[in-house]
Amino acid sequence: MYELTSVSADNKKEFYKELSSMLAGLIGDETDWLANAANAASLLYHMLPEINWAGFYLYKNGQLVLGPFNGKPACVRIQMGKGVCGTAAQTGEIQVVEDVNLFPGHIACDPASQSEIVLPIYQNGRLIGVLDIDSPVKGRFNSDDAEGLSAFIEILNQHIIWPEPD
Ligand code: SME
Repeated sequence: MYELTSVSADNKKEFYKELSSMLAGLIGDETDWLANAANAASLLYHMLPEINWAGFYLYKNGQLVLGPFNGKPACVRIQMGKGVCGTAAQTGEIQVVEDVNLFPGHIACDPASQSEIVLPIYQNGRLIGVLDIDSPVKGRFNSDDAEGLSAFIEILNQHIIWPEPD
């Protein structure tokens, strides 16, 4: 059983550095994408303070489909360009949303969510999907989270080959 040790969240840059090495340690030499993405979602959910959902949506047949996550059950399909996730996937740009209530078209899976960060995931130039993290606290995420989570995705990408879409 993997024991999660707590990391200080005072310094976000340091926190994400430690989180990425925890992910690398957790993956080890395992290559199964689903197992590793599921553990990555769990690691984020349990280690990041003040969040209520963390997980992946995968790009399949022109839309985003719910993947491994931790948190309450969520909407299964998101159209490209819709909500924060669909916007990140369509534009290829990280979305840091301070107040989801002010984001036009935000999809509220859990009414408790107040802020959100969504990072598009690419592997070898192909859109894989997005990493989505929700918080019950307004303004929870900033550019340090964007940077740290980009590095986290990079570690995951180095260890797994994401599946071809169905
Ligand atoms: N809020 C997201 C939908 C996914 S849930 O947050 C898990 C969005 O607007 O795309």
